[in-house]
Amino acid sequence: MKIITIIGARPQIIKAAALSRAIATYFPTKIKELIVHTGQHYDQNMSAVFFDELGIPKPTINLNIGSGSHGKQTAVMIEQLEEVLIKEKPDALVVYGDTNSTLAATIAASKIHIPIVHIEAGLRSFNKKMPEEINRIMCDHASTLLFSPTKTGYQNLMNEGFRENKAMLYSADNPGVFHCGDVMYDNSLYFSRLNEENSTLFKTLGLQKNDFILATVHRNDNTDDPKHLSTIFESFRKIAEKNNETIVLPLHPRTKKMLEKSLSNDLYNSIIINKNIKIIDPVSFLDMIALEMHCKLVVTDSGGVQKEAFFFKKPCIILRKETEWVELVECKAAIITGANENLILNAYNTFINKEDYDFPPLFGDGAAAMFICEEMIKNFN
Ligand code: UD1
Ligand code: UDP
Repeated sequence: MKIITIIGARPQIIKAAALSRAIATYFPTKIKELIVHTGQHYDQNMSAVFFDELGIPKPTINLNIGSGSHGKQTAVMIEQLEEVLIKEKPDALVVYGDTNSTLAATIAASKIHIPIVHIEAGLRSFNKKMPEEINRIMCDHASTLLFSPTKTGYQNLMNEGFRENKAMLYSADNPGVFHCGDVMYDNSLYFSRLNEENSTLFKTLGLQKNDFILATVHRNDNTDDPKHLSTIFESFRKIAEKNNETIVLPLHPRTKKMLEKSLSNDLYNSIIINKNIKIIDPVSFLDMIALEMHCKLVVTDSGGVQKEAFFFKKPCIILRKETEWVELVECKAAIITGANENLILNAYNTFINKEDYDFPPLFGDGAAAMFICEEMIKNFN
C-alpha cells in the first residue's frame, strides 16, 4: 500500500514523526510512505530542525511554496499537489490538522478521487472566523478515514451527520470515523523518554527547573490585532515585573515580525530590556518538551502546546476565546482568557496558588499511530 503524507507547518512535521515511526517499526513491508512538504513553513527552526532530531524520513518532494495570502498560498499548493498526486498515484493521502496545507491537499486529492485520511479529525472551535476552522471542516467532510484524538472530536463529527459505521470498505461517501487517541501523545511519551537531561537551554538561559513560565503566541487573532498583541505583552510585563517571574518565549516568526510594528515604543522597549522576559527563536521539539516538562506554568495560544502542557501535567492559560481541547478546561487544568489582561492576571494568580490538579489520561495510550496504520491497511491494502 502506498500513501502520501502531506506536511507543511511545524506541528504537522512533528505529528508526522509518530506515523513514520509506527510504519518503520511495525509495518515496513506493508506501507510505503512518501512525504510531501508544501513548504508552508521554511525557516530552519520551523522545519529542517525537526527532520534531523525526530528521525522523520526527509520529504521526497518539497514544493517550497512559502508564505502568502490564504487564497494565493492555498491555490498554488492545490495546483502543485495535484500534479504530484497524478504522477505518484497513491492508494491514500494522509493529512494532519487544519492548516492551509491540509485544505489544499484535501481539495487536490478529493477531485481526483484519492481517498483522504484525516488525522486530528473532528476538532471544532465553533468560530468560523478562524481560518483553521474552515480548513478542518472541509477536510473532515471530504475524508474517507477520520481519526479523532478525543471523544469530543468524535461526538462533534456525529453531530455533523457522520455515522458509526462498520463498512467492509470505507469511502468518501461512506466514511469511517474512529476515536483513537492523539498521535502527539504518542510523540510526547516517546521523545520525553529519550530526552530527559539532554537540553542545554537551561544552562544557556540560566533557568531554574520549575521556576519559570513558558509562553508561545502565534495565532493570527493575537498577532495581527495590535490591541490583542499589546494586551498580551503588557500582561507578560506585569507578571515578570510585579511577581518577579521568568518568562521564556520561543517566538514564532510571525509574532516576532509584528512585535516592533504593533507595540508602543514604551512597551516594546520594556519587554526587550526586561531580563525576566527571555524572547528566543523557535526551539527544536526536544528542547520544547524539556521546557514544557520543567516549567511551572504554560501560557499559549497554540493548540499543540496547550495539550503538551496537559501531557506533562502543567497548568495552562489559553490566550484564545475558545479552545478545541475543551477537556483541558473541564478538568480545570486550563483557563481560557483570550487577550484580556484582567483574565490573564487572574488566571496566573489562580494557578500560582493552586495545588490540587487532575490530569486524567484523555489522549489514548501512546499507540494512536499504530491503530491508524492498522485501519489504513484494512481499508486500502
Ligand atoms: C500556520 C497555520 C496554523 C498553525 C501554525 C503552526 C494556517 C492557516 N495556519 O499558521 O493553523 O497553528 O501554522 O505554527 O495554515 N513565517 C516565517 N517563516 C516560516 C513560516 C512562517 O517567517 O518558516 C512567517 C511569514 O511571515 C508568514 C507568517 O509567518 O507570512 C505566517 O505563516 P503561515 O504559515 O501563513 O501561518 P502561521 O501563523 O504559521
Ligand atoms: N514547538 C516547537 N518549538 C517551538 C514552539 C513549538 O517544537 O519553539 C512545537 C510544540 O511542542 C508543538 C508544536 O510545535 O508540538 C505546536 O506548533 P504550533 O504552536 O506552531 O502550532 P499549533 O499546534 O497551534 O497548530
